[in-house]
Amino acid sequence: MRRALARVPTKVTLFGEHAVVYGYPAIAAAVPKRIDVEARFRSDGRSVIRFEGVEIRVPLTAVDIGSGSHEARRESIDRIASYVSKAIEVCSSIVGGIDSGIEVSIRSSLPPSIGLGTSAAVSAGVLATCLELNGVSIDARELAKLAWRVELEVQGAASPMDTATVCLGGVVLVDPVNHRHRVVRDSIDALVGYVPRLGSTATLVAYVKKLRGSAPRVVESIMRAIAAVVDEGLDAVEKLDYERLGMLANANHGLLHALGVVSESSDRVVHALRRAGAYGAKMSGAGGGGAFVAFAQPGMLHRLAHVARALGAEVVSLKAGCSGIEVEQL
Ligand code: PMV
Repeated sequence: MRRALARVPTKVTLFGEHAVVYGYPAIAAAVPKRIDVEARFRSDGRSVIRFEGVEIRVPLTAVDIGSGSHEARRESIDRIASYVSKAIEVCSSIVGGIDSGIEVSIRSSLPPSIGLGTSAAVSAGVLATCLELNGVSIDARELAKLAWRVELEVQGAASPMDTATVCLGGVVLVDPVNHRHRVVRDSIDALVGYVPRLGSTATLVAYVKKLRGSAPRVVESIMRAIAAVVDEGLDAVEKLDYERLGMLANANHGLLHALGVVSESSDRVVHALRRAGAYGAKMSGAGGGGAFVAFAQPGMLHRLAHVARALGAEVVSLKAGCSGIEVEQL
């Protein structure tokens, strides 16, 4: 029975989250903490989704989505399952219908909903493997568009940032209006980690939308300031100017504060990293906790990783930027 495997990076937003939802550019990077998505046809005609290690603290178990067990993990499993089903639906519409059952296995050591693009990685991975099994090959840009469609249909609102980044890889300037995303460089040194997250992306995006409705001029000014950070951030990424990247991260963090999405837990880590010698640090993603990124002299990142861990944060990578999705027939 044919099988296909996609190894999909996760992502971190360097600059521009939230403003990207309103059409401003952002800079994100693929993170070399990959999610493996394997798909195969099933002769019994059933479609099954298996999750292995979706939650980092829960030991590896394969869960048949129909089994009704693992109640504590049910909510996140259901959420991921909705991306998987939608991706299979989109794949099916492209290949003109899938006759047999399909089994999708997902292996991840990251918990979902921490602002590291796990849903984008799952959407892109399922699409890529499903298309591969059906003999259809498409390029990374096409795949990114389809994966974005999956995210949009499941979430209702989503920028193309996460799906473009996990498909293209590298450090990406995301253009949410014309979709001319540009890989600016392969990677930069940065500390990427996360703290537990309280709010979901949908809630935080809805909160900013509400704020924009009640204080439109204020929010528009903040968004424009974030866009200026992205613009100068692009120059700093191109020149590999870590000190400037750090200062811009601090500015971006402050602007996210102004939008009201920074949690106390993110602040604690961000301030500790700055005190420990980082040029700058910011929360990353929708907020309410979750991912963070810090810039420093590259030789200092290991020490900063210790500082973050001592505060209870998880460290994911000391690099931002790696190759995009990789797909193979097994
Ligand atoms: O899902 P997260 O935490 O990576 O947040 C995504 C970033 C937002 O800009 C807030 C939303 C989006 O769709 O780009």
